[in-house]
Amino acid sequence: MCGIVGFTGAQNAAPILLEGLKKLEYRGYDSAGIAVMDGNSISVNKVTGRIANLCEKTDNGKAVKGGTGIGHTRWATHGAPTSENAHPHLSNDGKFAVVHNGIIENYMSLREKLISEGYHFESETDTEVIVHLIEKYYKGNVREALIKTTNKLRGSYALGVICAENPGTLYAAREASPLILGLGTDENYFASDVTALVAHTRNVIYLEDGEFAELTADSIKIFDCLGAEINKKVVRVMWDVQAAEKGGYEHFMMKEIKEQPAAVKATITPRIKDGKVVFDELDITADKLKNINKILITACGSAYYAGCAGKYALEKLCNIPVSVELASELRYSEPIIDEHTLLIVISQSGETADTIAAMKECKQKGAAVIAVVNVVGSTVAKLADYTVYTWAGPEIAVATTKGYTTQVTVLYLLSIYFADKLGLIKEDYGKYVKSVQSLPRFVQQAIDMNPQIESLAKKYHSSKALFFIGRNTDYAVSLEGALKMKEISYLHSEAYAAGELKHGTIALIEEHQPVIALCCNENIMEKTLSNIVEVKARGAEVLALTFRNNEKIVSVADDLMFIPEIDPIFSGVVEIVPLQLLAYFVAKENGCDIDKPKNLAKSVTVE
Ligand code: F6R
Repeated sequence: MCGIVGFTGAQNAAPILLEGLKKLEYRGYDSAGIAVMDGNSISVNKVTGRIANLCEKTDNGKAVKGGTGIGHTRWATHGAPTSENAHPHLSNDGKFAVVHNGIIENYMSLREKLISEGYHFESETDTEVIVHLIEKYYKGNVREALIKTTNKLRGSYALGVICAENPGTLYAAREASPLILGLGTDENYFASDVTALVAHTRNVIYLEDGEFAELTADSIKIFDCLGAEINKKVVRVMWDVQAAEKGGYEHFMMKEIKEQPAAVKATITPRIKDGKVVFDELDITADKLKNINKILITACGSAYYAGCAGKYALEKLCNIPVSVELASELRYSEPIIDEHTLLIVISQSGETADTIAAMKECKQKGAAVIAVVNVVGSTVAKLADYTVYTWAGPEIAVATTKGYTTQVTVLYLLSIYFADKLGLIKEDYGKYVKSVQSLPRFVQQAIDMNPQIESLAKKYHSSKALFFIGRNTDYAVSLEGALKMKEISYLHSEAYAAGELKHGTIALIEEHQPVIALCCNENIMEKTLSNIVEVKARGAEVLALTFRNNEKIVSVADDLMFIPEIDPIFSGVVEIVPLQLLAYFVAKENGCDIDKPKNLAKSVTVE
């Protein structure tokens, strides 16, 4: 996600801001910028691409004079990665510069109003409304203007602001996006991430939602949302830089597993308004949808498995046949596709070569293409007719976690959206929307209710092979669970549709063979239970994933992982979480390089 730094003190700010931004590079970004105040004038430097370009442009900051400034690394959300869209953004009168992390959900209406009032926009970003609102409300007191501005914003923000009329002062505000103040000697800092601070100070204050701060070289004042000054505890950070990058976790993968409740929420929040699923990015009419007789999903790896998990909800709610094809197969299979086909392409990176080729092939044959993508401005996003971003934030571990869960979440939202347009789910509409809105909470519970997985990993890590079984969504999630296991722990793991076991695979079951059985759908639980009994009769050790109070499964399984009880139509997003944790701890037990597994790359841009 984007990164923020701020500095005020006697030193030249620009080199310090650039150093801070470099510390945030690991988070991923596509453009960067700094704004530095020298006396009463603010100078802004922005570039696309690497921080190195910004260093080059400013002679490593030496060409920019001034002791107070703000900096930003942007990971594009609203608007392509261009230097116009890079932060800091300036007010029309040039008095204010702003950097922002987060998403302003109501920026469209604010932007229209500001334009009607005569404000001029330079960028496509949601952030720019903030700086114009501050200018609008500024009557000589920045803090008051900031409070009025933030009262108008819906969404999340960490803000850094400078004002040319107040040299030497930094302003900060936070709502649902981290912002940390760093206390130096005769200089002070802020940053969105402690990584950018630890080189200078270990004494920090964590701003909470609704709080504001004013920093000068020798003081830090903090205010609540009504403007009353408050006292906050100074915390001493003991992390080294590497640990700080990972938010204190040992690996990015664990950090990203734990980020999933927030990531899934970020996927859902802009798409549910007043109890209705909305996709501002899709203008598919009901008539056009009625013309669709087949939905084809294509992708690679985990993104393909996300498609497999989403298929059940799409078919059930929309009553349209859905097929899921590996992009590497689809591109050479001369698929039967016409203008009645809706193609959903899924890709975290948006740069996967096979996915792009399959998409081009289907598009050329007349399919309408919706892309479900994480990286803004990526090739898949650009080529699609419609692009739905997952808003998972940058994923750094090679093995996807939050990328996958946000992809499945989008498919669930699309199922409800399409079914509603087709007039198919009148009575259950509210129930479905509520189920999807509960997903972030359920994902959090799935993380919290499984502390035993770490010790289960000690039991299973030395197995020769692991088999995963399940039916329908349980099967789809098994596929992703087995992939997670094999890619990071190098353990041979395979997923099978539970009913298929007896058609061959059961020959492999012998004494102590671990079988991971997913049983999260009450409607077909008895069937999977029969398969559990079959493998146990041949000596298998069964590690079941189910609900805590599911007596039937709990009483036969050797070991257990849990998820909260959840509508099986939307359970895929939650079921995968314990399997991610299992793969993580098995890999850790085996001493594997979890974030960078051997032979794998994050983005597969070759065939
Ligand atoms: C597995 C994994 C890969 C990707 C696949 C597609 O953890 O990350 O299987 O899912 O390479 O990548 P994207 O989604 O970027 O198209």
